[in-house]
Formats: sequence, structure tokens, C-alpha cells
Amino acid sequence: MLTGYYTPSPGGDTIFTIDPRPIKFGPGAINEIGADARGLGVSRVAVFTDKSVIELAPTQAAIAELKVAGVDRVVYDETTVEPTDQSFLAAAKFLQEGEFDGIISIGGGSVIDTAKAANLYATYPDDLLTYVNKPIGEGRPVPGSLLPHIACPTTSGTGSESTGVAVFDLLAQRVKTGISSKFLKPSLGVIDPEFTYTLPPLVTASTGFDVLTHAIESYTAIAFTRRSKPDHPTLRPPYQGANPHSDLGSLEAIRLGGEFLVRAVRSGDDCEARNAMMYAATMAGISFGNSGVHIPHAMSYSVAGMIRDYQPSGWPAGHALCPHGISVVVNAPAAFRFTGPAAPDRHLAAARALGVDVRDVSTDAAGAVLAERMSELMRVAGIPNGLEALNYTAGDIADLAGGAIQQQRLLSISPRQVSEQDLYALFEDAMRYW
Ligand SMILES: NC(=O)c1ccc[n+]([C@@H]2O[C@H](COP(=O)([O-])OP(=O)(O)OC[C@H]3O[C@@H](n4cnc5c(N)ncnc54)[C@H](O)[C@@H]3O)[C@@H](O)[C@H]2O)c1
Ligand SMILES: [Fe+2]
Repeated sequence: MLTGYYTPSPGGDTIFTIDPRPIKFGPGAINEIGADARGLGVSRVAVFTDKSVIELAPTQAAIAELKVAGVDRVVYDETTVEPTDQSFLAAAKFLQEGEFDGIISIGGGSVIDTAKAANLYATYPDDLLTYVNKPIGEGRPVPGSLLPHIACPTTSGTGSESTGVAVFDLLAQRVKTGISSKFLKPSLGVIDPEFTYTLPPLVTASTGFDVLTHAIESYTAIAFTRRSKPDHPTLRPPYQGANPHSDLGSLEAIRLGGEFLVRAVRSGDDCEARNAMMYAATMAGISFGNSGVHIPHAMSYSVAGMIRDYQPSGWPAGHALCPHGISVVVNAPAAFRFTGPAAPDRHLAAARALGVDVRDVSTDAAGAVLAERMSELMRVAGIPNGLEALNYTAGDIADLAGGAIQQQRLLSISPRQVSEQDLYALFEDAMRYW
């Protein structure tokens, strides 16, 4: 019987689902890609990657492996870092024209998400907004299965290899949004931590905080028993709230992040730390993929979508962008201060997993203690100091809040109800931390 955080509530759901896909984890895993493709019955594959990742030794090794296994392959390296509606559709056109029977994505979340979207729109061509989450899109359900897709992450961050989500910038509306469906989940995740040894420091920090926020938001999300029971099983949302299964991976990812994130940022040669962060990303991805993320991610969609002139080092030069992990974590301390009172024990447990001695901390201070530990880690890892450091000013806050309030799919998973006015106050709090 479920108790504590999962005590039944009147009208609340009593059921949660676990819908994992197979994953393969470990140094050298990418060298088995030929057999993996064959195992899925694939003989002609579209290989999605980007212009940096294609140059990496493990990527070249993977392509050579496919050749040895007799798998016909065509590389598409035109994917955009932080993809857009336009780059999604260009990738779908490539896939549609190539008569492929499978997909391999080798890259960070940007590449894996592009491959998912290409797979969807090449299989079920339609207006882009048809399958995009409401209220920005129509939110129509994906009709059915797609081509087999093997996702090979090269960053230790998004967990996209295990989620049914694809995120992009909708350029015309200057907002980030996404598509979610269980049919977008890759058929197999091949997770080789050796890819991450070449990640530059700020990319390691940004993606590492994406992991930590996935795990903490998943762990502090509303209990699935406090979400209304759906009228029909098919209406149970993909982000179903925290549950005993997601808790396992979330807590372990928080613990690993607390121990290894800063070490991984400091040195690409610290294989122990980089391997541990890749495993943390995997655990967090499996967990938040079925529980959900809440306020920091909801706020990030407008932080990333409205960016004007920020150009971080480690990403392609020439255009302004806010990397996903940075756009999320700059909101995290403010958000956890706000959500702390709604689930104090969970915020304290997260702080403890991050290495804080919480024995003498009162439950009233739970959110503040977690927020403080996050700010400290951000400062040490070289994350920009709040929204001001991304060149946002007080004059932007109303628009930022107006964008974030639209992310109801995520906000409804918050342990504490949040209004547009609350979001305004949270963005004010997120302007500067130290
Ligand atoms: N689908 C999901 O569940 C999910 C979850 C979180 C975030 N996202 C999305 O994923 C995207 C971000 O993905 P990301 O954080 O993995 O980064 P990314 O794919 O945008 O890559 C960041 C940069 O690192 C480079 N890079 C990637 N791997 C490298 C390696 N091994 N060595 C050297 N350089 C490397 C890339 O070329 C790029 O310049 C965003 O669009 C975000 O919204 C998706
Ligand atoms: Fe994320």
C-alpha cells in the first residue's frame, strides 16, 4: 500500500504507468551499433547528427561499424543546435525523400529531438502545429508507430533517448514548445559516456544542470495520487507526477550530480566524473520521462525563446541562443524557494542528496536550503548569475511570465499552484543570485 507522499487523495489517480524502452549503457557501447541496427531489422538508415559531432572519433567509429555490418547509411548533419520549426521540417523532408527503414541519431538533445520530429512528420505529414502541445499547437495525438530509432546521446544532459518529447523554438512566436507522445520514444538508447570526454566546460555545466533540474523537479513534482483520475486510461498524461518508480532514479541522479558535476566541468580527463554524469543523465531521463518536470522548465521556455544577444562559449558562434540547461537552472533557486512549502520533506531530501547536512534544518527552510545549494553549485560551475547575466532587464519580466504561464502541461505538475503573478515574482527573484 502506498503511503506518505503517495497517500490516496479524494478523486485522485490510483494508478501510475512505467513505459520504458531498452537502453544499453557503457564505455564502448557505440561500437556495437551495427549489431543493434541489424537487431531491429534495419538495412538502410538515416544518420542524424550535427556539424561538430560528426567530427568526433566515436561518431566516425559508429559510421564505420554500420558499414561493417552491411547497413546502408546516409548522414544528415544539417540539424540546428537548439532546433526550430524550420530545422525540424527540413530534417523531415530529408527523411521522407530517402526511402529509409530506420533512424540513428548521434548527438545531444538537439539532434535526438530533430530525429524524433523528422520521424513523426515524415511518417504522418501534416502542418507542424498539428501535433504540438496545446495551447500553442493543436495537441492532436500521434496516430501510431514510427520508424525504428536508435538514439545515441553525446551530451550528459537531456535524457532525450528515453523520453517521448521533442522540443523546438517556434520562431514566429519567439517561444519554445514541444511535441509529446509515447510514439516519439526511441526504440533503443545507446549511451556511451566516452562521447562526453570532448564536451567543453560550459556545455558540461549546462547539460549537467539540465540533469539536476530534471531529477529535482521530478522528485518534487506533485504526487500522482494528487492528480485527478482520468476519465479514460488513454487520457492519463505522459507527465503523470512523482511516483515510487521515478523517485528511485531521480534521487540517484541528484546524488551523482552533487558528487560529480563540478568535477566533470573542471576536467574532460576526469573519466570517473564524466561517466557518472552520463549515468545520472540516463537515470534522470528515465525518471522525469514518466513523472514530469515543473516550474524551472516551464520558465525556461520563455527565457530561451526571448533571448536577444547572449552568445555562450562552446556553442556555434554567430547567433544568439540560450542553451537549454542554462535557461532552466537560472530559474531553479527561485522556483525551489517557492515550491519548498508545498513539499518540504522532498526539498530537504533533495538538498541532502546534494550533500547538505540538513539535520538541524527546519521544514520551513527546506526550499531556501535547496535553493542556496543550487546557487552555490551554479556559481562554482561557471553558470551565468541569473537572468541579468543573460541580458534580461526588469522590463522583460511581464513578457517572460506571459510566456511561461502557457506551459500548463508542466505547471500542472508543480507541487504548488502557480499563477502568472507568481511567475512574475519568480522571474524577479531569478534576476541575480550572488
Ligand atoms: N527531449 C527531451 O526530453 C529534452 C529534454 C531536455 C532538453 N531537450 C532539448 O535538447 C536540446 C539541448 O540538448 P543538449 O543540451 O544535449 O545539447 P545540444 O545537442 O544542443 O549540444 C550543445 C553543443 O554541444 C555540442 N556537442 C554535443 N556533443 C558533443 C560532444 N560529445 N563533444 C563536443 N561537443 C559536443 C553540439 O554540437 C552543440 O554545439 C534543447 O533543444 C532542449 O530543449 C530535450
Ligand atoms: Fe531539460
